[in-house]
Amino acid sequence: MLSEISVLVLHGPNLNLLGLREPNVYGKTTLAQIDDLLRSDAEKLQVKIVCLQSNHEGALVDAIHNARALHSGILINPGAYTHTSVAIRDALAGVMLPTVEVHLSNIYTREEFRHHSYIAPVAIGQISGFGADSYRLGLQALINYLKR
Ligand code: DQA
Repeated sequence: MLSEISVLVLHGPNLNLLGLREPNVYGKTTLAQIDDLLRSDAEKLQVKIVCLQSNHEGALVDAIHNARALHSGILINPGAYTHTSVAIRDALAGVMLPTVEVHLSNIYTREEFRHHSYIAPVAIGQISGFGADSYRLGLQALINYLKR
């Protein structure tokens, strides 16, 4: 039986290009393949997930607002907005849904401007550097948190 837990998986800008985009940094796995992996993990964990990608900050903010009524937690890779978006941070703080931040690459071994995350202080945790596994580990951690 499916539990009541529902997770919104949000992918930020340029993540629709995964597979093509800088494969030396982000790997060859496409976004559709990541979503499929997460859907199959969610099925095994008996939770519901909804996956959404946008290149637009406002659309991500709207999705976070709408999540309040529909979901129990958020798994987010904010992409470049990680390092720039007070609006996404404020939206997450505003809805108060447990949020896990994930990154395919290890943002701390890359350019200095990627070392700061506006999202980390409003997330329950962050996973960075494990490729598609960052999402899978993040989903597992979020679900464990929600079940506690
Ligand atoms: C990213 C890291 C960000 O710095 C970058 O802007 C991205 C992807 C990652 O998943 O490694 O778009 O969030």
